[in-house]
Amino acid sequence: MNPPAGYADRVTKTPAFRLGVLGSGKGSNFVAICEAMDAGLLPAEVAVVISDVAEAGILKHATDRGLPARYLAPGKFRTKLDEDAEAAYLTALREARVDLVVLAGFMRILKGEFLRAFEGRVVNIHPSLLPSFPGLAAWKQALDYGVKVTGCTVHYVDQGVDTGPIIGQRAVPVLDGDTAESLHARIQEAERQLYPATIAAIARGRVAVRGRLTTGFGAGQPVDR
Ligand code: GRF
Repeated sequence: MNPPAGYADRVTKTPAFRLGVLGSGKGSNFVAICEAMDAGLLPAEVAVVISDVAEAGILKHATDRGLPARYLAPGKFRTKLDEDAEAAYLTALREARVDLVVLAGFMRILKGEFLRAFEGRVVNIHPSLLPSFPGLAAWKQALDYGVKVTGCTVHYVDQGVDTGPIIGQRAVPVLDGDTAESLHARIQEAERQLYPATIAAIARGRVAVRGRLTTGFGAGQPVDR
């Protein structure tokens, strides 16, 4: 006897893992995340993209792909969201039923109420091997310091600046003659591999956190099926 119409869909479809992506810039990490999804390497979907910059490239990439994209004004501060803005961001993310908040070049610090609302569910990518060189222009800090290896780090976001538990890292050499631009470009290439792979591991439920320590991803394997 054949099962009733639609039966297979009802029993086999698990709800997708939903990403809320926040970005302020050109959106190259966001594009890499979308491409990994298109290739079937990242079992998730983009529920909403939000930017604090109306003309940010990330919003254009999202609309070009037919994904929900919103500019939400950040309010009166320069480096963080004000109270009203924070509430608007939280409402938008909740309405989109987001499982994981993915910071992809979002230039504002998230604290307090926001992190409590999405506790353990906010990730960020930073362009250095943390805990070295937190903060702005990390590739330039690395170059000026004279290190020979730097890279990128995906970490959970906590109340500090670039201090949360590290999920994955990828190393990049600093070459003789590097400029800030050439080193930054090499790091961003590594980011575009690391971030989708890390999010895929989280979406598959492979990443566990105990205090500062995470397990389940390691040091940046390529995206797997
Ligand atoms: C990335 O280099 C990331 O390390 C930093 O912001 C940059 C965003 O670039 N957090 P893009 O908008 O993804 O191109």
